[in-house]
Amino acid sequence: MKILVINGPNLNLLGIREPEIYGVETLEDIGNWLDEQPGADGHDITWFQSNHEGDLIDQIHATISLFDGIIINPGALTHYSYAVRDAIASVNTPTVEVHLSDINSREEFRRVSVIKDECISQISGLGKQGYLEALKTLITFV
Ligand code: DQA
Repeated sequence: MKILVINGPNLNLLGIREPEIYGVETLEDIGNWLDEQPGADGHDITWFQSNHEGDLIDQIHATISLFDGIIINPGALTHYSYAVRDAIASVNTPTVEVHLSDINSREEFRRVSVIKDECISQISGLGKQGYLEALKTLITFV
């Protein structure tokens, strides 16, 4: 399967950013770790990160006919971006939502995900393992 992993604002700073919440590994570390997992074997996994909402939307659109699935961690855009939600709804590419931290046990505003209903599942609070679980979910779904 061809999978696009999309990461939103501030996730480029993983490793530095609030390590007590998000851990000490960088996004690149997580990408390399995922590639080494037996569950990822034989799959073509592309990573993308941007701090800009429109760039994330462009990448979601670019999955049409090119990717079999999306794993998305939209960062804070999760909680208010109807534009990201509409992009996911527009492309019909199966999408799994991932969060490193448990968004349901943090501040009130993080408990809302406006993209959740357009995704086949939401995985939250498993750290980097969440990306692997998302991949497994997509493999089973497609
Ligand atoms: C996050 C949770 C969001 O609330 C936050 O804004 C992020 C990261 C996570 O992976 O836990 O940027 O999506």
